[in-house]
Amino acid sequence: MYKIGIIDTIDHKGIELLKSNNNFSYEIITDLSKENLLTKLPEFDGVTLRRGKLDEEILKNCKKLKVIARHGVGYDNVDIAFLKKNDMTLLVTHNSTSTSPAEHVMFMILNIYKGRETFHTMVRDGNFHKAIHLKIDDNFELLNKNILIVGFGRIGKKLIKKCLGFDMNVLVYDPYVEEEIISSFGGKKILDLEDGLKVADILSLSVPLNKETKNFITLKQMFLMKKKAIIINISRGGIINEDDLNKALNDKIIAFAGIDVFEKEPPELSNPLLKNKRVLLSPHAATFTKEGLEKMSMETVQNIIDFFENKIEEVKIVKL
Ligand SMILES: NC(=O)c1ccc[n+]([C@@H]2O[C@H](COP(=O)([O-])OP(=O)(O)OC[C@H]3O[C@@H](n4cnc5c(N)ncnc54)[C@H](O)[C@@H]3O)[C@@H](O)[C@H]2O)c1
Repeated sequence: MYKIGIIDTIDHKGIELLKSNNNFSYEIITDLSKENLLTKLPEFDGVTLRRGKLDEEILKNCKKLKVIARHGVGYDNVDIAFLKKNDMTLLVTHNSTSTSPAEHVMFMILNIYKGRETFHTMVRDGNFHKAIHLKIDDNFELLNKNILIVGFGRIGKKLIKKCLGFDMNVLVYDPYVEEEIISSFGGKKILDLEDGLKVADILSLSVPLNKETKNFITLKQMFLMKKKAIIINISRGGIINEDDLNKALNDKIIAFAGIDVFEKEPPELSNPLLKNKRVLLSPHAATFTKEGLEKMSMETVQNIIDFFENKIEEVKIVKL
């Protein structure tokens, strides 16, 4: 029997799936402190990982550990160099983690483009008739707007369909995806990021956080953008430099941002983005839909089961 550590709470459907399989026992770990992970993790053959950081110090104690199944696709909370050196497998949720984030990008774009809370508050406060006197400078149609999607993986490929449904022009910057693939989805491949930034009304980021993408968008890039441009980041904090973003918004270099992810999570209450009126916020919740969380939980656990039953699909295995 394999012993599985469920690091951090996940939807009950995944737990039930594990419970129904006699080859596995499990324990749920909700204390994510380093001290607790150092003492608890050595007893497991495999773990699922939502929040919680697995660094070298923790991993080197885990002599039995063969597999880590991320509840999600990003793995910047795992020391992958250590996994590689020690022949440990890292799995991600390939099927369940893109629909809700792509919808969340649309939720943010539509919120920003369609007046956010202004109209709602007006009606609720008995100011219905005042709408006609509002100067409508910041509400837009999506028709013919240029969206630049940076990162054309699972999320990017879901997002493009939604944008085309709104009759937007879709530009894609992803040096690792061939032009034919992008055009088969109805997008236009951009070879030089700067060319895309100059014409984008909306920039949406769906890239992993790594050495190449850290501080990918700084003031330098934002200066190239239109003053009315908006940026949506549902990928990872740190891909946009937060200080630069705050400055660009305050100095009206760009118009607005939708931010789901932060350099430090949870962000400090003193983080100026939290108070900036030109930012729409969500708490790393792009996957937080009933369906999204159920599917992620089930896929994460199924990945662990498939790994030990030697039938894990290649596409779920991270090439370390
Ligand atoms: N906010 C959330 O809850 C949430 C949910 C899911 C995913 N994410 C984040 O979104 C990221 C993307 O998810 P995905 O499933 O689409 O990943 P993916 O691996 O399927 O796609 C990432 C794409 O980015 C491209 N890319 C890598 N480096 C690039 C670069 N320098 N410039 C341009 N493109 C580059 C890759 O070629 C790939 O096509 C994840 O890594 C994760 O960090 C966040």
